Amino acid sequence: MVGRALVEYCVSLGDCVTALAREQLDIAEESAVSDAFEVAEPDVVFNCAAYTNVDACETEIDRAFRVNARGPEVLARKAREARAALITISTDYVFDGAKSGFYDQRDDPAPLSVYGSSKREGEIRALTAYARTSVIRSGWIFGLGGTNFLSRAVEIGTTNSEVSAICDSYGNPTYAWDLARRMREIAVGMSPESIMSRIPGTVLLSKDLFENRCN
Ligand SMILES: NC(=O)c1ccc[n+]([C@@H]2O[C@H](COP(=O)([O-])OP(=O)(O)OC[C@H]3O[C@@H](n4cnc5c(N)ncnc54)[C@H](OP(=O)(O)O)[C@@H]3O)[C@@H](O)[C@H]2O)c1
Repeated sequence: MVGRALVEYCVSLGDCVTALAREQLDIAEESAVSDAFEVAEPDVVFNCAAYTNVDACETEIDRAFRVNARGPEVLARKAREARAALITISTDYVFDGAKSGFYDQRDDPAPLSVYGSSKREGEIRALTAYARTSVIRSGWIFGLGGTNFLSRAVEIGTTNSEVSAICDSYGNPTYAWDLARRMREIAVGMSPESIMSRIPGTVLLSKDLFENRCN
C-alpha cells in the first residue's frame, strides 16, 4: 500500500524510480539485494516491504524476523556500500500502549507482539548497520491497495447489520499518500547537499509489480 503511493508520488515528480515487488526481490536475500542495487544504482532506498500480517507473525516467528529484522539490516548494509540514504518504515507496535497520550521519539520501545518485536529489531539492525538510515514509525495507514483498517471498516459496515468495534485503541490515521510525500521530503533532507530537487535513482520495494525508469 505505502509502496504503491510512494511510487506514484515520486513518478509524478519526475523521479527515476525502480520498484520491486516481493517476487522480484526478497529483501532478506543478500545476493539478490546486491544485484538489485547494481542495476538500480539508487541514491535513496525506501523500504516499504515487511511481513505485515500481525496475527500470523505470532506463529510465523522466523518469517517475521527474517523479513522485518534481517530485511532492513541487509538493505542498510547494501545502502552503506552504495552510499545511498535508507528510509525504512517501522510501526507504533514497537510500543506497549501503556502511555496515556501520543508516543514520540523519546519514548522507550517495549513491543508486546512478535510483529512489534521483529520491527523493533529491524530498526536497531538497520540503524546499527548504517548511520544514514531514517526510521519512520507510522501507524493506522490507509490508502489504495491492500487491506487496511479503513477498508475493513467500510467492508464490515456495508455487509454487517451490527458492527462490533474496539474502543480502547488510539492512533493517528495516516493517509498513505501523505506518508509518501513526507518520506520523499525526508529523503531530500538526507541528501549530502540537502538541496537536491530531484532524486535520480530510487529503489522502492512494494507490493506492486512496477518498474519505471525515466530520465
Ligand atoms: N498498514 C499499516 O497500518 C501500517 C502501520 C504501521 C506501520 N506499517 C509499516 O509500513 C510499511 C508498509 O506497510 P503496508 O501497509 O504498505 O504493507 P503491505 O501493503 O502489506 O506491503 C508490504 C509489502 O512487502 C512485501 N514483502 C513481504 N515480504 C517481503 C520480502 N521478504 N521481500 C520483499 N518484499 C516483501 C509484501 O509482499 P506480499 O504481499 O507478496 O507478501 C507486500 O507487498 C511496513 O513496514 C509496515 O510494517 C504499516
